[in-house]
Amino acid sequence: MQGTGNKAFDIAWVREQFPSLKLQVNGQAAAFLDGPAGTQVPKHVIDAVQNYFLTANANTYGAFPTSRRTNETILSARAAMADFFNCDSSEVVFGQNMTTITFALARAIGRELKTGDEIVVTTLDHDANVAPWRALEEKGVVIRQVDIRESDCTLDLADLKRKITAKTKLVAVGYASNMVGTINPVAEIAKLAHAAGALMFIDAVHYAPHGLIDVKALDCDFLACSPYKFFGPHMGTLYGKREHLERFKPYKVRPATDVSPECWETGTQVQELIAGIAASVDYIAELGRHCDSTAKSRREALRAAYHATHQYETGMLTRLIEGLQTIPGMHIFGITDAKRFDERCSTLSFRMGNHNPTAIATFLGDRGIFTWDGNFYALNLSERLGVEQYGGVLRVGLVHYNTMGEVERLLAALREFAA
Ligand SMILES: Cc1ncc(COP(=O)(O)O)c(C=O)c1O
Repeated sequence: MQGTGNKAFDIAWVREQFPSLKLQVNGQAAAFLDGPAGTQVPKHVIDAVQNYFLTANANTYGAFPTSRRTNETILSARAAMADFFNCDSSEVVFGQNMTTITFALARAIGRELKTGDEIVVTTLDHDANVAPWRALEEKGVVIRQVDIRESDCTLDLADLKRKITAKTKLVAVGYASNMVGTINPVAEIAKLAHAAGALMFIDAVHYAPHGLIDVKALDCDFLACSPYKFFGPHMGTLYGKREHLERFKPYKVRPATDVSPECWETGTQVQELIAGIAASVDYIAELGRHCDSTAKSRREALRAAYHATHQYETGMLTRLIEGLQTIPGMHIFGITDAKRFDERCSTLSFRMGNHNPTAIATFLGDRGIFTWDGNFYALNLSERLGVEQYGGVLRVGLVHYNTMGEVERLLAALREFAA
């Protein structure tokens, strides 16, 4: 729990931090309900990127000031992400995006695997946590896919336990589903993986804007996420336990260092955006201090921020589900029981009768309400739910800069569409 400094969630302050929220569409304020595909950025992040270009723009390890500043920028971003993950700075890797990082990691881990070794993936996951592991089938690695319980779109844990065997070398599970919002019991799954002698890889891309990540408490071996989903720039980051980052060998050019974590960062990094990553973590911490003035360290401030945003997002989610359930032909995928909201985040997908999700998204988009339609690359899930051939689903993503007013606007527009 937080200290005694808790205040009511200051949505006006939050929205002031994000200049793009002022965008208008056809005379209406834009409602950004598209966060799961990428969130808006606070001014702090925009300024950090600009400031890098103005004062530090150079390549690394040169004998002059801008180059030294670039080294410092990267070090301070590693320290920010170390607070974000609750790990050591040397365990933070930057990369182009989660997909690229995961393909590179899978390839490196694959060097040590042999025919008949097994990797466990799930039906609930984004394909970025499936395809990189499936690529190892070329080496004779066997991929075992865990099913879901269709009624509430949660992982079938009995199936997972069956699929983890003595041959399992790695278990790859998402922290939260980017389609239906289910939060998986990843700490429990990490224990099962380790008991079988396997590594645990977590895709936390979708969880990162909604919940505090603690790699120590999860005891995972790797965890990846993408700053552009948590109010930062378009990049990816990876946590890897130091012993693994030092043991596995990434593919790299010969002159580049063999020292971890830099050896995992092939080529020149997008340094201006790395500056933005540190700023996105600092923004969340600033939000935390705004919500709880007793939060001292950056980690404590991050905890306070997620504590406050979780309550705020759950309020909007509750109203959204109640409102959707009154619309004729509505089918919501995933958990709808308010008593189980700790098992889900505020990302929600639905179908309305036989309406094509693209038609609904277009109708909403014309009214300044931004939502996504399709499968969002959660291809296994879209196929499993039988919606892939019908245009997938309509997805609404609520993050902490959204408002109850936007939820009401969405509900009114959907009622209009249904009529
Ligand atoms: C759950 C999840 N995992 C992975 C990814 C891929 O992330 P990136 O775009 O950084 O490669 C996404 C992107 O939408 C996602 O939502």
